[in-house]
Amino acid sequence: MSDIQSMTTDALQRITAATDLATLETLRVELLGKQGSVSGLLKTLGGMSPEERQEKAPAIQALRQAVADALADRKAAFEADELARRLATEKADLTLPAPDAPCGTVHPVSQVMDELAEIFADLGFAVATGPEIEDDWYNFTALNMPESHPARAMHDTFYFPDTAPKGGRMLLRTHTSPVQVRTMLAEGAPIRIIAPGRVYRSDSDATHTPMFHQVEGLVIDKDIHLGHLKWTLETFLKAFFETDDIVLRLRPSYFPFTEPSVEVDVGFAIENGRRVLGGSGDAPGHGWMELLGSGMVNRKVIEMSGLDPDEWQGFAFGVGVDRLAMLKYGMDDLRAFFDGDVRWLQHYGFSAYDQPTLSAGVGARP
Ligand code: PHE
Repeated sequence: MSDIQSMTTDALQRITAATDLATLETLRVELLGKQGSVSGLLKTLGGMSPEERQEKAPAIQALRQAVADALADRKAAFEADELARRLATEKADLTLPAPDAPCGTVHPVSQVMDELAEIFADLGFAVATGPEIEDDWYNFTALNMPESHPARAMHDTFYFPDTAPKGGRMLLRTHTSPVQVRTMLAEGAPIRIIAPGRVYRSDSDATHTPMFHQVEGLVIDKDIHLGHLKWTLETFLKAFFETDDIVLRLRPSYFPFTEPSVEVDVGFAIENGRRVLGGSGDAPGHGWMELLGSGMVNRKVIEMSGLDPDEWQGFAFGVGVDRLAMLKYGMDDLRAFFDGDVRWLQHYGFSAYDQPTLSAGVGARP
């Protein structure tokens, strides 16, 4: 066997015996690299006579080609194995269920606000908002509570030291009623809105927290009267509590921004020591619970909001959202709403998939 033949056999054996890419690369350098043995053999062609070269060149070229081919084949085989290994070990099984990670819940206040938006959207009401940092004029003066009005004292207001753009002081809004004024000024009439949001009063016990939630309702149109208010509240409360057995009692009351003013009570029964809405509060074993304030919007408020009170009338109401949530879902301590206790949220919270809709029910439990 000639030298070249034995070199070829030897090189091909070593290539076949290589077990990984690194060994193969070492072999490639050793054989075909600049200082490699096959390259060295090729270089000898330069020093040969034409005849000798003609005789030896084909064998040397064949050796180089055989080694290059063997290296390429072996490399391709290693790469295919590596790909197969990765495909086998790195597969993602998309049929696996999501990991049982801790997941949050929708707070009952958010859920109830979504329920309210859904119910009132069906009655043609849009959702309006206003700032929580409000000024004296919107929160009081434009709502017919001038500087010295005694009703201001009942609001336990948090004031800022700053002065407001319209004089007066900056404050945390004590109710959502300033959104009435802002909406009339911004949009004119007619209007049909609800305005849910946070309000603040310096007050704290089991049924009062310094921050709580209200939803304001406002309708401004032509020839609006108390009958429209009563029908709207009845329709809303029946949809919200998901029962036709809701009996309302309207009582004359006083708010500076409504005239006449009407306080609305709802009848309840006591079952297993707990209040359950339904029936007349006058029936034996029943009672009336104060639920919300409302009335026909005072002419002065319509006027201060830039509209002509001889042309436009309307009604407004304000309800505590937290109170509605407690009545519907049975919590009894308002303070727990804002403690951020995960156990409370797991118990009373809602699944993010449980979107309130009128067709599926606005009160489905998680
Ligand atoms: N803003 C009143 C309150 O916070 C509620 C209310 C709103 C009353 C609208 C009448 C009309 O007590």
